[in-house]
Amino acid sequence: MKKKILLGVLLIMNIVSYSQTPKYIPQLGKDKIEDVIGTMTIEEKVYLLMGLGDANWRNVINEKETVIIDGCAGRTWDIPRLGITPSVLSDGPAGLRTDIHPKGLDITRYCTAFPTATALSTTWNTELVENVGMAMGNEVLEYGSDVLLSPAINIHRNPLCGRNFEYYSEDPLISGKMGAAMVRGIQSNGVGSSLKHFVANSIETNRKSINAVISQRALREIYLRGFELVVKESKPWTLMASYNRLNGLYTSESYDLINTILRNEWKFDGLVMSDWWGGEDAVAQMNAGNDLLMPGCKQREELLFALKNKLIDEKTIDRNLKRILTFILKTPRYKGYAFSNKPDLKAHALISRNAAAEGMVLLKNTKGTLPFNSIKHVALFGKTSYRYIAGGMGSGEVNFKNASTINESFNNNGYKVEKQLETIYNQFIDSIKKTANDNHYSPNNNKFIVDFHPELILTKEQINSQVKNNDLAIITIGRNSGEGNDRKVEDFSLTNIEKQLIQDVSEAFHSANKKVVVVLNIGGVIATSDWRDYPDAILLAWQAGQEGANAIVDILVGKVNPSGKLPMSFPMKYADVPSATTFPGEPADNPINAIYNEGIYVGYRYYDSFKIPTAYEFGFGLSYTQFEYSNIQLSSNVFKDEIIIKLNVKNTGKVEGKEVVQLYLHAPDVEIEKPVQELRAFAKTKTLKSGESQEITLILDTRSLASFWTNISSWVAEKGTYEIRIGSSSKDIRLKSDFELPETLIVEKVHSVLYPNRFFKELSTSTK
Ligand code: BGC
Repeated sequence: MKKKILLGVLLIMNIVSYSQTPKYIPQLGKDKIEDVIGTMTIEEKVYLLMGLGDANWRNVINEKETVIIDGCAGRTWDIPRLGITPSVLSDGPAGLRTDIHPKGLDITRYCTAFPTATALSTTWNTELVENVGMAMGNEVLEYGSDVLLSPAINIHRNPLCGRNFEYYSEDPLISGKMGAAMVRGIQSNGVGSSLKHFVANSIETNRKSINAVISQRALREIYLRGFELVVKESKPWTLMASYNRLNGLYTSESYDLINTILRNEWKFDGLVMSDWWGGEDAVAQMNAGNDLLMPGCKQREELLFALKNKLIDEKTIDRNLKRILTFILKTPRYKGYAFSNKPDLKAHALISRNAAAEGMVLLKNTKGTLPFNSIKHVALFGKTSYRYIAGGMGSGEVNFKNASTINESFNNNGYKVEKQLETIYNQFIDSIKKTANDNHYSPNNNKFIVDFHPELILTKEQINSQVKNNDLAIITIGRNSGEGNDRKVEDFSLTNIEKQLIQDVSEAFHSANKKVVVVLNIGGVIATSDWRDYPDAILLAWQAGQEGANAIVDILVGKVNPSGKLPMSFPMKYADVPSATTFPGEPADNPINAIYNEGIYVGYRYYDSFKIPTAYEFGFGLSYTQFEYSNIQLSSNVFKDEIIIKLNVKNTGKVEGKEVVQLYLHAPDVEIEKPVQELRAFAKTKTLKSGESQEITLILDTRSLASFWTNISSWVAEKGTYEIRIGSSSKDIRLKSDFELPETLIVEKVHSVLYPNRFFKELSTSTK
């Protein structure tokens, strides 16, 4: 009996002491990630696999830390009991996007609007792009975000893509090199970048469902190549799958794309997230290795159901969770960074201004029209002279404090701007805005209403009366676009009103021996061949961020010597574009499929190989000075592993300036056809003073010689003679040399995946 009582007492003591020592709960960062995952309930796992959703944003991330995510794109879930912090993901390619006045907080958050990606790649200056990335990333850090959803490196396949302004180029080497520099810059702050949109998001029409049908060769050489370069060179923390389908499958559901190519071949070890509401099947996304579903919510029940009913292997979920947690461990928020809400906006404005000026292209400059010489009074025509367009619309927008108009920038620089025109145009702009208000346009439409409104019609008398009092006329042509829609051919062309304005102003000013300059404040390529003969000079200013108007004036008055070069071709007419008849897709009114039947012949690869004249070729751009190229030397005339090319560039003109040196390679095409030449390397000189020279070094590795052979799914460098063409543009070739590759080389064998889900005939030089 006594024994029994003793046992009972011991048992009770045991229970008491057991319940007094709470079970240890593994903590992220302190314990193994596997143990943290092993402690999660199924519900917690599913929560973490997706963002918090868009409907009920919680303003406050947790009680201790007031983090405003208003205006940011999304955030991940937090699980405090496991030490899992949330992370904030923000757009975008031209700088951080957040709300200026976050709800409930007495702070103002302006961000810097940097030049759009197209303008940045126009610099051909990777160092500059890296610096811009550093400044952008600093704003991400100091405003309490963890990831910038940038860069976007999709190919400019067709000038009508509504998002081209967010992208870099028609060429994968430029896209890849610019993207890699941007990622380096952003991530140097200890925040992440998200390389997007993987892959082939070159159409906005029906973007959430359209099926891009692309050959394996075009995919490898054109659409995947830039992503491959960025992933291998700069290791972005995260990558965003695109909305579209590719050869039948949503990219976010494609195991071959995300696992076989990205992770297995390229060794990407970061996090993959979906684009916002992208894809359809959460289980397929999980299986493909699309770890995080953004912005989250709608798939929660689907995944819970799949897990409970064993429709998905929990190990797959755990694998994805491990990548999410590995990412969270790197974030400033996890590390407890005390952000200041006070980035150095002044310093960033200067970076933005310099980048803007270097990202503009002087397309025409006859009889030394530019830079200004004894010009005091300017007549500014075109509504965009009074309403500058800093950037495009959508997630690529930035909420900046102020961007002066071209009109204001001239005034600020001490020029006399024609007051009569200023009044006429400002009244016109006010009336457009008023009509929008009276008709209750939504605030978003209202914001851009002026950009989309037809240009003001001026009578010849109104124009003629400006000639006497002004030394020169400037006409600004504006265009805007944004995600979700592609541009129309009518938007590519200038309207009759615009063309008439250019003609009338040119005739009026020329009759008094006065010059006319056209400034293009646009996001994507437009027609130029049917009006470019009228003005004396044309400056392609792109949408160059908040400092763009100042940068325009810097160039026009000669404070900055233009050094931008086109990262895409300007065709003579839209019908010349290789994808003109297939864009956006079929059926034309509501496309389901987009057949990329131009294959590898995108941009200059097409115009050069098929001898189609362009208005301004790829790589083109004028300067206020001249450069002489000389003394090309190759490390060897027989290729083995790599060839180093050295050459000299000398500024032979009167003013200082920078030059972009472009290396095009003409490869032998006995076994498979190839574009007549392809950009394989480029470099930008430092600022060269008049008379100064610089030695430029360019390197060709084995991969730069190779093309993709579909039949053996390999990158192959074909034996024979390779011609090196060093140019100031793709047509202005200044130096040539060649080397031999004695034996055909299989450079790399890859998986034969992502084949088109329907047959189509690709464009070929042999059938033309
Ligand atoms: C865009 C992405 C963007 C995301 C979050 C999507 O509509 O396609 O580029 O990052 O929204 O704003």
